[in-house]
Amino acid sequence: MEILKIENLTKTYGEGSTLVKALDNVSFTVEKGEFLAIIGPSGSGKSTLLHIIGGVDRPTSGKVYMDGQDVYAQDEEQLAVFRRRQVGLIYQFYNLIPVLNVVENMTLPVLMDGREVNQQRLSELLDVLGLKERTANLPNQLSGGQQQRVSRHSS
Ligand SMILES: Nc1ncnc2c1ncn2[C@@H]1O[C@H](COP(=O)(O)OP(=O)(O)OP(=O)(O)O)[C@@H](O)[C@H]1O
Ligand SMILES: [Mg+2]
Repeated sequence: MEILKIENLTKTYGEGSTLVKALDNVSFTVEKGEFLAIIGPSGSGKSTLLHIIGGVDRPTSGKVYMDGQDVYAQDEEQLAVFRRRQVGLIYQFYNLIPVLNVVENMTLPVLMDGREVNQQRLSELLDVLGLKERTANLPNQLSGGQQQRVSRHSS
């Protein structure tokens, strides 16, 4: 089953003499369960491609279909929900909010969606992630791996 389809994706930054073509007519598909690595020299457009797939940057032209859905046919609000629920981007830096503790960081995306926190799922997740004893810790009071696990999971 095809989970991701990229069609003639082009992204340009700037204009005139400062114009940069970061992506030039990129097309490929990814099957569900497939493991894919994108490699290339610095500045070749890897991050730009991932940002567009993840809904955090818009293509100049071309299409992204996730599970058959045309990602950029959605309005801003739908796109924000798509970003939070349908894709997981793990950055080198964890993007945790420094003044919120472990539980607050993990539950923020759910609260922003206007949903209720599932306390049982949260408790299970904290257990599996080995964070039960760290629920009140701020990000700077966690190890690197603990920070990464918090940034990856929301409940
Ligand atoms: N916001 C921006 N404004 C202008 N140019 C940009 C912007 N973001 C990226 N670029 C340019 O687009 C090109 C692709 O950048 P991108 O960040 O996708 O590269 P990359 O493959 O991830 O590189 P690296 O391996 O160094 O992380 C680069 O030439 C970069 O300078
Ligand atoms: Mg990059």
